[in-house]
Amino acid sequence: MNEKKFLEKLWEKGKDFLGVEYPIISGAMTWISDHTLVSAVSEAGGFGVLAGGNSPAEWLADEIDRIHASTEKPFGVNLIVIAPNYKRHLEVVKEKKVNFVIFAGSFPKDKEIVGVKATGAKTIAFASNEGSARRLMSRGIDALILEGNEAGGHVGYVSLVVLLQQVLFKFRNRVPIFTAGGIATGQMAAHLLLAGASGIQMGTIFAISKESRAHPEFKKRYIKAKAREAVATPQFHQALRVVPVRAIRNKGMDEFAELQMKLLKEIKEGKISRIDAQYEVEKFWVGALRKAVEEGDVDRGSLMAGQSVGLVDKEMSVKEIIEYITKGILGELKYIKSLVGSD
Ligand SMILES: Cc1cc2nc3c(=O)[nH]c(=O)nc-3n(C[C@H](O)[C@H](O)[C@H](O)COP(=O)(O)O)c2cc1C
Repeated sequence: MNEKKFLEKLWEKGKDFLGVEYPIISGAMTWISDHTLVSAVSEAGGFGVLAGGNSPAEWLADEIDRIHASTEKPFGVNLIVIAPNYKRHLEVVKEKKVNFVIFAGSFPKDKEIVGVKATGAKTIAFASNEGSARRLMSRGIDALILEGNEAGGHVGYVSLVVLLQQVLFKFRNRVPIFTAGGIATGQMAAHLLLAGASGIQMGTIFAISKESRAHPEFKKRYIKAKAREAVATPQFHQALRVVPVRAIRNKGMDEFAELQMKLLKEIKEGKISRIDAQYEVEKFWVGALRKAVEEGDVDRGSLMAGQSVGLVDKEMSVKEIIEYITKGILGELKYIKSLVGSD
């Protein structure tokens, strides 16, 4: 079997599920994944995902209308279950008859999955371990995304390599499973497909695509960054909870570490309550991603990026990214065939 036929078999399930030519998902990125990027990815044959983030419901509705006006290809909308406008967002995706809804940030309620599915849409959610995968599947979720700790943005604690063994190998025959985190080459994508993934999701590589609205200074910094610079914000002590976010190290990150140390000292000395200290921690990054994406503030903005940032060294169009990944997959399949000596 030639590589093209081999690949068609490998990602058939993902293609059928998403209704696309290439089951390559451009993961939702708050402030970045707008109608332009989403339409471009879907038009290029991949799967674009609009980021609901913390946006006003009116903005979300308008963006969905714009996507519908610019492409007939499938796309998804990512909703953050813990966002203040989540309930309104849910109404919007139902009203606008979005075909794919991706729940992120926490578990959706049973009735929310049922409600979305009742409109004919397919539902996807992130599984961070075996238990959450089982729970989501028993609640009727149609597909899963496994996102490793290498990924950009808000991350879980477990690497993709472990998640593959915990979840993918166990459930790959039950629902389509897409893998994310640290992926930026077709070579890697080929091995994930061989392991049973139905497709891949990437964020960072699309964040600096030509169609991304991110500021030129933001893109420049990402192109320069090494993998080891994309670090997850640490939590120094149980007394002060920090949700890990992977981003390129900058002044803002150092100041955040200093703030945590100062607050921990003050908690210990009884100068501040844990509740007030927690509030200070949560306040710190508010608006920081927008500052980086829109204003190009690479020093104090939040430069959310996966370790995959070290694999990306130029700005490509989304079409070029999809071609680059597909070509890389085919090359790797050829290499694998050469290892086993099959024609
Ligand atoms: C700048 C940025 C913003 C992100 N925002 C979101 C988001 O709003 N919702 C979400 O589910 N994932 C979000 N992610 C995660 C991506 O969708 C994707 O899963 C992740 O970037 C994959 O890892 P990679 O960057 O190594 O490819 C974000 C990632 C980045 C880099």
